[in-house]
Amino acid sequence: MAPVMPENLILVGFMGAGKSSVGRLLARRLGRCFVETDDMITAREGCSIPEIFARHGEAHFRAAEEETLRVLRLKTGDVIATGGGLPGREGRMEDLRALGTVIWLAGDFGALYERALRAGARPMLAGRTRDEVEALCRSREPFYRQADLSVDTTGLSPDQVVSRILGALAAREQAAR
Ligand code: S3P
Repeated sequence: MAPVMPENLILVGFMGAGKSSVGRLLARRLGRCFVETDDMITAREGCSIPEIFARHGEAHFRAAEEETLRVLRLKTGDVIATGGGLPGREGRMEDLRALGTVIWLAGDFGALYERALRAGARPMLAGRTRDEVEALCRSREPFYRQADLSVDTTGLSPDQVVSRILGALAAREQAAR
């Protein structure tokens, strides 16, 4: 019998949602490869995300995100963490859902904001007030909401989020039987 190729698990969510740390842990738990769209872009461009924004502007970065979607079509069974803005265009969530199961790491805006600020190196935070960043977050929610599954990460450690994701995936599989 031909082996069933496991589908990709794709994490979406706003900056500070923990997509990288949760994705890395989830991949380790499942024995899968972990990829990040931001890493794919920095490897291709040969410079950091803040440098890409500073040298070439946001439009260039968004075009690079589009390109990563084409490359991701070659992947099977990976855990993929996306940049917070990648799903925020018409058609992008459909493209992501065509790659596998999309999981939204949702959370209280205040907590996401604090975490994103602490980690630094986020050009989308530079020069924006907290209210402006919150408006950006709200404007993306209709896209994130199109995910197959969502997990509220508020107050949870990355390990706990991974357990919630595994539980939600198991429940979904059970329901599909
Ligand atoms: C962005 C989020 C970042 C990175 C870039 C733009 C955004 O990724 O892709 O700085 O527009 O929200 P994280 O969500 O991992 O911070």
